[in-house]
Amino acid sequence: MRSHYCGEITETLIDENVTFCGWIHRRRDHGGVIFLDVRDREGLVQTVFDPDTVEAFEIANSVRSEFVVQITGRVRARPAGSENDGMTTGQIEVLGKEIKILNKAKTPPFPLDDYSPVGEDVRLNYRYMDLRRDEMQHNLRFRHKVTTQIRNILDQQGFLDIETPILTRATPEGARDYLVPSRTHQGSFFALPQSPQLFKQLLMVSGFDRYYQIAKCFRDEDLRADRQPEFTQIDMEASFIEEKDIMGAAESMLKAIFEEQLNVELGELPHMPYSEAMSKYGSDKPDLRIPMELVDVAEFLQDIEFKVFAGPAKDPKGRVAALKVPGGAELSRKQIDEYTKYVSIYGAKGLAWIKVNEIENGVNGLQSPIIKFIGDDNTMKIMDKLGAQNGDIIFFGADKEKIVNEALGALRVKLGLDLNMLTTEWAPLWVVDFPMFEELDDGALTAIHHPFTAPSCSPEELKADPANALSRAYDLVLNGCELGGGSIRIHDQEMQKTVFEILNISEEEQREKFGFLLDALQFGAPPHGGLAFGLDRIIMLMTGASSIRDVMAFPKTTTAARPFTNAPGFANPVQLAELGVSVVEAEPKADAKDAE
Ligand code: AMO
Ligand code: AMP
Repeated sequence: MRSHYCGEITETLIDENVTFCGWIHRRRDHGGVIFLDVRDREGLVQTVFDPDTVEAFEIANSVRSEFVVQITGRVRARPAGSENDGMTTGQIEVLGKEIKILNKAKTPPFPLDDYSPVGEDVRLNYRYMDLRRDEMQHNLRFRHKVTTQIRNILDQQGFLDIETPILTRATPEGARDYLVPSRTHQGSFFALPQSPQLFKQLLMVSGFDRYYQIAKCFRDEDLRADRQPEFTQIDMEASFIEEKDIMGAAESMLKAIFEEQLNVELGELPHMPYSEAMSKYGSDKPDLRIPMELVDVAEFLQDIEFKVFAGPAKDPKGRVAALKVPGGAELSRKQIDEYTKYVSIYGAKGLAWIKVNEIENGVNGLQSPIIKFIGDDNTMKIMDKLGAQNGDIIFFGADKEKIVNEALGALRVKLGLDLNMLTTEWAPLWVVDFPMFEELDDGALTAIHHPFTAPSCSPEELKADPANALSRAYDLVLNGCELGGGSIRIHDQEMQKTVFEILNISEEEQREKFGFLLDALQFGAPPHGGLAFGLDRIIMLMTGASSIRDVMAFPKTTTAARPFTNAPGFANPVQLAELGVSVVEAEPKADAKDAE
């Protein structure tokens, strides 16, 4: 139907006849001459219809936004002064001779330019229209380019693309499962995979040596800007390797993508122990673009009267930390109140502060509601430890370690962004030496990653001091976002048994949940390990999108529903009877539709 894409018609075609198809982007009537900007996935081309071509002119005059047309015409240079250097087709226009309306369109629910602010609900309700917009076309194309490059790189490195099942058993990634009832085994359910974890390990037992998959994963968890219930991993696993091998392969792949697609050199990625990340940044995914660190100040506050500080300062599970913000003395009371409200989301009960106005005058040069509680001497020692300078504000957090880390960690990032403190555009790093286990509120231990993660010590050492054991896990973090993570796995029966014992997972539960993997490990499992990147997150960061929803064709809304398809929907009674499923207390919504 066409000789060229709209966006491909350039000066090289001047005086030639072309036929192209696309959507009417804009129609302008310039005193008897009709201009149509026609759009397809490659771009826009400007077309002019003169009244001399009577029939074509009439049709051109009748088309409206988003009509689908086929146009034939002659390419000519735009009149001097009307060129548009910002467009590939900006030097030419097409003098239209024939135009055919291939389809009409209703008035679009919103303008498809990038300038009109449109609510996300509306965009998602008409996603097929939203995807016509330049930004979304660019994002999805970019995603395609990245996945193509990834496939090429992994293929060159000998990774085999092998698919793993979607209807499967639960996988232990810590989120809730999506369940699918089985018709042939009534009362039983498949779980959708939270990741291909168990299967990729089986593939190593099978001797495939290097596996990868661009895999759909499903996790029934609360949504955020960087979290969807259905998302995509670049999933990798390899045998006879150590950390440096798989981390090296993953790192060089990431660097290659940045270089090829964005012309950005990421450089060598630093490795940071988990303990350092938590103590300096309050987070296991530190945003290293921001040049501020948390500093412990408990040593100066243990013996003071002020219980808010002295309590956590003396508590082995407490923390009192300070965050020095250069230039922050400018913050108003109102702004400080807003930041205090912000940290309360993370459980902080307050946000003490000291403004440094004239440090040369000692405590008299400071301004703060808490110096009277801390004492002059302690205050100056803290100023000294922090290297406080005029113009700084210092914020304090005192509470359980977890709360202080989360509150001041989040405050650090917020202030860094609010006060434009970013020192670089890209700050990637590896976080390593994670603890094996995390203590729950009731004192029980839970696996920080999954229970197949290998510890960096022997089973005996692990048993002796599980709470302090480190794992052979690693996360790749970019600009404060966890892009990927993985570990060397346990391939040894005894070690696996020890980990399950520590986690208090009974033999019965082990068999029930992972029996097939445990069996497989007995048949000659090679040492192996792997990693998975979140593809959506990589694309989000690389395109500068503010949410992974903007780099997925059909994302879910924040309530985990898919707008225009009305999913999830109610199942009809016949279907439910066939599945042996009955629904308790379903409250039909007015707009709910039966599932297809
Ligand atoms: P993990 O659970 O860390 O590891 O997941 C790997 C990466 O997947 C991305 N990710 C998500 N992206 C969007 N929405 C979500 N809900 C979501 N959850 C995770 C993140 C994350 O870093 N099997 C292990 C990997 C391994 O050990 O090899 C795993 O799934 O970018
Ligand atoms: P209060 O005595 O409760 O008025 O607190 C005095 C100052 O300490 C105020 O600036 C509070 O915001 C701050 N503050 C209270 N609790 C904490 C806490 N847990 N961590 C840090 N600052 C706090």
